[in-house]
Amino acid sequence: MAVAASIRRRIFQLVASPFSGSVQSPPGRDVGSAPQELLIHETASNAMIVRKAGHNDAEGICRVQSAAIRQLCASHYSPAEIEAWAGPVEPNWYRNVIGIRELFVAVEGETIIGFAQLNLDTAEVDAIYVHPAAARRGVGSALLRRLEDVARQHDLASLHVAASLNSVPFYKSSGFHGQRHTKFPILPGVEIASLVMEKALEPHEKAASNSDERSCCQGYT
Ligand SMILES: CC(C)(COP(=O)(O)OP(=O)(O)OC[C@H]1O[C@@H](n2cnc3c(N)ncnc32)[C@H](O)[C@@H]1OP(=O)(O)O)[C@@H](O)C(=O)NCCC(=O)NCCS
Repeated sequence: MAVAASIRRRIFQLVASPFSGSVQSPPGRDVGSAPQELLIHETASNAMIVRKAGHNDAEGICRVQSAAIRQLCASHYSPAEIEAWAGPVEPNWYRNVIGIRELFVAVEGETIIGFAQLNLDTAEVDAIYVHPAAARRGVGSALLRRLEDVARQHDLASLHVAASLNSVPFYKSSGFHGQRHTKFPILPGVEIASLVMEKALEPHEKAASNSDERSCCQGYT
């Protein structure tokens, strides 16, 4: 029997995920309502991929965003700011923008471990969030590279971001430069301190030709 790169097998028990104490679930299956029987995909390399977000990804995206704000941003913001930022995160907002905005997820096995969103109209990185359990493994860099590829495909000459203060070293390491301090409105009446940063995009020959393409990510270990 030929050995397939991806082998699907059924596991008849709940499997603990390294993320959020949740369980791994197949695409489209709500973790909260997951039955005892779960489908697990084994891949030859178990490599992370970055792909365009689909409608069934909204729950996973919110799980990542909430955990990232609460754990990775707490070093630079007050508990009240963190709660104002993370508290309202809910899947319907993402369900409404998936398919409209340039929204990508980083996936390991069946688990969403990061996501990123680009606004092509304003050349702005709207968001990059990585689950704390997957931080400092190159996931954020892989997502940012994807956004930059998409921006180049749309002939954008530069990108900017209102970077949360905790994320400034991350954007600096990817070639962004600080421009000015600002207050970023996260809710009506709630603003958080951030740094506007910019990066000029050099055109390069081999930007991914299709933003739906699933790509393995260099730099991920
Ligand atoms: C910012 C964020 C997306 C970075 O994701 P990540 O996957 O951990 O980043 P990477 O592993 O690709 O880091 C690449 C480089 O950025 C720098 N970097 C990333 N996080 C850093 C940190 N907390 N402190 C210092 N440098 C950091 C390092 O130079 C790192 O390279 P190294 O690990 O080899 O030293 C992640 O920390 C996060 O989700 N933060 C909370 C949400 C947020 O603030 N998002 C940005 C606002 S839109």
